[in-house]
Amino acid sequence: MSPKAMFPRAISPKAMRPFNFSAGPATLPESVLQRAADDMLNWHGSGMSVMEMTHRGPVYLGLFEKVMADFRRLLVLPEHYKILFMQGGATAQNALIPLNLLGENRKADYVNTGHWSTKSISEARQYGDVHVAASAESPVDCHGPSALAVTPSLGTAHNSSSRGPEGPVAIHPFSYIPPVEHWRVRPDSSYLHICGNETIGGVEFHQWPDMKSLGAPNVPLIVDMSSHILSRPMDMTQMDLAYGGAQKNLGIAGLTFVILNESLITQRVNAPLAGCPTIFDYRKVLANDSMFNTPPTYAIYLTGLLLEWIDAQGGVAEMGKRNAEKAALLYGALDASAFYQTRVAKNARSFMNVPFYLPDDRLYEPFLAGAKARGLLNLKGHKAVGGLRASIYNAMPIQGVQALVDWLNEFEKEHA
Ligand SMILES: Cc1ncc(COP(=O)(O)O)c(C=O)c1O
Repeated sequence: MSPKAMFPRAISPKAMRPFNFSAGPATLPESVLQRAADDMLNWHGSGMSVMEMTHRGPVYLGLFEKVMADFRRLLVLPEHYKILFMQGGATAQNALIPLNLLGENRKADYVNTGHWSTKSISEARQYGDVHVAASAESPVDCHGPSALAVTPSLGTAHNSSSRGPEGPVAIHPFSYIPPVEHWRVRPDSSYLHICGNETIGGVEFHQWPDMKSLGAPNVPLIVDMSSHILSRPMDMTQMDLAYGGAQKNLGIAGLTFVILNESLITQRVNAPLAGCPTIFDYRKVLANDSMFNTPPTYAIYLTGLLLEWIDAQGGVAEMGKRNAEKAALLYGALDASAFYQTRVAKNARSFMNVPFYLPDDRLYEPFLAGAKARGLLNLKGHKAVGGLRASIYNAMPIQGVQALVDWLNEFEKEHA
């Protein structure tokens, strides 16, 4: 096929760019894409594209070190925390975390808040003695202070939510964070794993569990941050390891980040379980500055552009402010309506992924078709939970959320 046939018309991104609410890979800032396009054939006068460069050469190494330094600065990481760039996505980490950190006692604790926690748990079970310290799998009535008692009489998932004076009552599985008073963490566990933001269920931790008050002061906390890294200022020292894929808030698919307290792999557990591939041994990755083998060079470059974009916008604090505004706008519209339903307890609502439901299954098709016609894409919910979902990561401008709210209002008027 000739190049002309492959690209039948000039694309004018400004005129045509829709608002993409995909959960990941997700929308990128237009200016980042433009920079990547400008750099494509000739990066900084090198005469070649970044993706053509050897990762061992001084030109690429300069870029790589800047990306690492920018990421560290934006995360406000102290020296004893290290960043590893790996591959295999967060899914590979579901195996690599137990392989690297279980140590001799092979005990690991997990909190189950949804789809992604469930996956982490089932993978870890292949390697050790996994204990579920708390689970949101049972539906509860989390209305009011004693919210936390499980009410099995509510049965399994309903297709509608009920409302109390303070908003929706969480009666669905995986629609809340189990209250910490109910967590049972084994004090001799090798670590406690949580999913910071359940991308599918839309459940987010807005503060980190305090391991001391959980009666497990020596148990390291591990957080899957795939879908909310750098979405707001976070104290990374409250956890010992955070990980995720870059393709939501940090760039494109192909790069996996692991941020860890170095003592975890030098003092607590100084060798992986037998059989762990060398390339996935955190100690080897660290000792080789994340270049044990060829790193995903272009994905790292793209993350570098993303980090520069965050800086240019005003930093992570500004991201947090904008994300709070976007979430308030969207949840505000959903709460104000008796037509749309949400299921997640208010104190656990994700600022990144907003799932919601329509009162009648027959309405999904026209809703999505109308959204598409207005340039609002990828709003279909994940097949595991159905409904609709708007992912509003750092790169989604408030104008996109406003356009979605306008469509919500219009659609409700037509169909309520
Ligand atoms: C919270 C969370 N964890 C893990 C994963 C799996 O990530 P990956 O596809 O990078 O392996 C995802 C993917 O969407 C996710 O959202």
